[in-house]
Amino acid sequence: MNTSVMDIIRKRKSVRTFNGAPLRSEDRQKLEAFLKTADNPFDIPIEFRILDAKEYGLSSPVIIGTDAYVAAKVSRGPQSEIAFGYSFEKFCLFAASLGVGTVMLAATISRSAFEKAMEVQDTEVMPVASPIGYPAEKQSVREKMMRKGIKADMRLPFDSLFFENSFAQRLNPESAGIFQDALEMARLAPSAGNKQPWRAVVCGDKVHFYEKKAKAMQNNSLGDIQKVDIGIALAHFDLTLKEAGVAGRFVTEDPGFETDDQTAYIVTYETHQ
Ligand SMILES: Cc1cc2nc3c(=O)[nH]c(=O)nc-3n(C[C@H](O)[C@H](O)[C@H](O)COP(=O)(O)O)c2cc1C
Repeated sequence: MNTSVMDIIRKRKSVRTFNGAPLRSEDRQKLEAFLKTADNPFDIPIEFRILDAKEYGLSSPVIIGTDAYVAAKVSRGPQSEIAFGYSFEKFCLFAASLGVGTVMLAATISRSAFEKAMEVQDTEVMPVASPIGYPAEKQSVREKMMRKGIKADMRLPFDSLFFENSFAQRLNPESAGIFQDALEMARLAPSAGNKQPWRAVVCGDKVHFYEKKAKAMQNNSLGDIQKVDIGIALAHFDLTLKEAGVAGRFVTEDPGFETDDQTAYIVTYETHQ
């Protein structure tokens, strides 16, 4: 990516209203090439396909002005949704750097048609698909109303998401050291219903990530869609650190902090010594 990841993250917004122009062949080629490299730090393969809505009978009630979609699937397993969210977001940020709009759709898609087009097996899951195309100048009325309804432009404050040494102490951005920008970029991540389920506790050179589960988002047939949100936030966090030249890795190392019933440990990032 030529533009900085932080710039792309700051400018990115979901796009549901497209201008009707088909993808330029050079953009399509770049997207196809990128999809082959959209890996994740969990080394879980994600299979992407670009799909034509007319060919496969795909639709979404919230999308106007494009027939092109990207969908992806992953084998079910520990960390699969997190890996999925990471790789899918990496793709969405790359698309944004080309001026191509995306929006992850979990609920508002003709799911069975998408799953058929993706040949999703019982051992696999296809959490989201996204339209791809060029944003229209104006959002549709429906899109504007949706954004207003879920307060899509708002994000929770830094110090209600991120903590220091335990959940008892809130973290100020200025005290977050090398993690300040990366956590701020995680804060700006998109999420299903804009619920922003990511939480983190910084302890020295480690950041422990947690999922704060919203009741309305659990127990659906898709599994835990909020784990995809966590993967997205981890992508923003990790790509920002990588761009700043900080090396690190994700490990499972639950520090055992006391949490409320809705909050569960996910993964820890640690910088390389
Ligand atoms: C995992 C996931 C699932 C989503 N599912 C839907 C969906 O079914 N329909 C929809 O219109 N938007 C969906 N969204 C988009 C969110 O509503 C959007 O990202 C959020 O409101 C924040 O807005 P922004 O992306 O413009 O920052 C989804 C987003 C994510 C990350």
